[in-house]
Amino acid sequence: MALFDKTKNGGGSYAQVDERLTHIAFILDGNGRWAKKRGLPREFGHTEGAKAFKRIVRYCGDIGIKVVTVYAFSTENWSRPKNEIDRIISLLEEYIKGAEDELEENRIRYTFLGDKSVFSESMADRMRRLEEISAHYELRLNIALNYGSRAEIVRAASELASSGEPVTEKSISEHLYTAGCPDPDLIVRTANERRLSNFLLWQAAYSELYFTPTLWPDMQPSDVDAAVADFYARERRYGGVTQP
Ligand code: IPE
Ligand code: IPE
Ligand code: MG
Repeated sequence: MALFDKTKNGGGSYAQVDERLTHIAFILDGNGRWAKKRGLPREFGHTEGAKAFKRIVRYCGDIGIKVVTVYAFSTENWSRPKNEIDRIISLLEEYIKGAEDELEENRIRYTFLGDKSVFSESMADRMRRLEEISAHYELRLNIALNYGSRAEIVRAASELASSGEPVTEKSISEHLYTAGCPDPDLIVRTANERRLSNFLLWQAAYSELYFTPTLWPDMQPSDVDAAVADFYARERRYGGVTQP
């Protein structure tokens, strides 16, 4: 099967993935640096980052990725200046409103990873509603928002402790925000940082990691192609050995 079929989509650069690459997760980073490079306040980087978010999610759908997860706001990001937090949250709220309006066109199933209770009642309601009304679509977009992986694991462990369910790898996975989603095959982080920053620590056990210097607002479909090509050049052994 041709993974990179240049004849598709009007002859442009166009990858088509197969079942080996079901789930891509992005740690979007570099919005602040993108703005700084231009002498602009950090908020501008987030506005541009929101455009990249739409562009990249759409492209992932086009190339056949079934699950996309995006780390949009961490539990640690609350330590940022208030005006920056306000901009990020209002961009996300705008995005959620738009997603509801464009649901039939985009046909995406949305899931929010993280504790919604910290948000305003109206925002939390919007998030819940979007999850409900999109639940029947196949293509999945997980948005990690007020997400921290350690807190997620603690939550799963305490749910298991109070229900008395046996603690197994399977039962823990089923109590994470990502319950029902396959683990990410590939995690892409932009802006030259090489760490997970409390993202999907459990789910990333066997994920392939890809780091790019591209700042998130500059992220283009061709950067996704490069990450996908890199992924397909790897061998996933899961502790086993290569067949001779
Ligand atoms: C990613 O960009 C956006 C969020 C973490 C919310 P940053 O805002 O972290 O950008 P840098 O790392 O300061 O450049
Ligand atoms: C990670 O980016 C969090 C998100 C992408 C939402 P940060 O920019 O917050 O991470 P650190 O602080 O560099 O680890
Ligand atoms: Mg950052």
